[in-house]
Amino acid sequence: MNTSFETAITNRADYHAEKYAQRHAQFGSNDVLPMWVADMDLATPSFILKAIQQRLEHPVLGYTQSSEAVYQAIIDWQARHGYTVKSEHIVFTHNVLNGFYMAVQALTQTGDAILVQPPVYPPFMNAPTANQRKLVEAPLLNINNRYHIDFAQFETRIIDNNVKLFLFCHPQNPSGRVWLREELEQIAEICLRHHVIIVSDEIHADMVYTPHTHIPMASLSDEIAQQCVTLSSPGKTFNLGGLQIGYAIIANPAYKKRYRHNSFANGVGELNLFAQIALLAAYSEQGLVWKEQLLEHFSRNIHRLNAFFASQLPKVKVMLPEASYLVWLDFNAYFSNHAELKNWLINDAKLGLNDGESFGGESKSGTGFMRINLAIAPSVLEQALSQLQQAIKTPAFTNPETADQFTQKRSQS
Ligand SMILES: Cc1ncc(COP(=O)(O)O)c(C=O)c1O
Repeated sequence: MNTSFETAITNRADYHAEKYAQRHAQFGSNDVLPMWVADMDLATPSFILKAIQQRLEHPVLGYTQSSEAVYQAIIDWQARHGYTVKSEHIVFTHNVLNGFYMAVQALTQTGDAILVQPPVYPPFMNAPTANQRKLVEAPLLNINNRYHIDFAQFETRIIDNNVKLFLFCHPQNPSGRVWLREELEQIAEICLRHHVIIVSDEIHADMVYTPHTHIPMASLSDEIAQQCVTLSSPGKTFNLGGLQIGYAIIANPAYKKRYRHNSFANGVGELNLFAQIALLAAYSEQGLVWKEQLLEHFSRNIHRLNAFFASQLPKVKVMLPEASYLVWLDFNAYFSNHAELKNWLINDAKLGLNDGESFGGESKSGTGFMRINLAIAPSVLEQALSQLQQAIKTPAFTNPETADQFTQKRSQS
């Protein structure tokens, strides 16, 4: 067991961490436990910090080119996922977000249709609209609290809207769903048939729980690799968000040319110096061991959260993630009004979670849902659960049936 995951990092507000700094703007109050922005209130691995400290022993932080070792580290890391990457296919991005905004700009024209599958990471919906593209939604199907793709609808939406590009979240955020080979093959087949470019955001790929396996979309076949842009980064897994780190893998020379041209046009160049150092340290044997320990820690947190809801709020549907540390919670059985759910969480539970509606798009598939970030120490999780427990007793928790259950439970204990 890695004891660093037991240590709560509680002073991030002093360092302007986004999830703390933007509490008031987001929740109207600083008095919430921030469990939203997807980074960790856990230490970045010490071997990465050490590598950065070593580099700081040299006094010049000038422009620095990524060495061959950086390219090789990416190639070796992706090979672990069964994905053969060539050095000339790698293009650096400022971060993964920057990668898919750039891909939208480079590979489509104004007015072109771009398909997304809500509920999904909100920038997926913003990238097309902010770039004057048409946003087309093919919502995921929630069957027994697990997301599935409605392939008939997926293909119809592509045909009806003449979709040019599909922004694919793989593994899926907010649900942590890991897509199966059969599903990937169906997506690939439909996209090949209709000449739809796939931009596959694989930033959560290194945090997949056994027995699930991440299969990079572009690894399916040479044909699909030619129609795919893969985006990845060690940023999520190794808690490096502040470094602005990411890369694209583009095997198709024409797409790569367009992508690079757009990068130059926007002044986006090299991976920054500390991102280079961090990537090399992360994509290593040490990194592999650390991330396995991290996944064990997340599993414990996820099971603790699930057990809490099962016993204390049994009608909340906890979508157990197959990857990553974000958990998608369905509160619809207790709150028929999303605003009331939000108010209860902020004002009574004093928790700052991601608002499900921001993931839902036009299809409103996030209504009644919240996303919670479990990249925290156990003590912080206990604090959050205790706040929830207290909030169940407040008048804002209105469901009479549940209130009765609780009255009974409390009187029995
Ligand atoms: C699916 C997905 N893509 C991209 C990002 C952002 O990554 P980056 O910080 O590299 O832009 C996130 C962050 O939560 C994410 O969940």
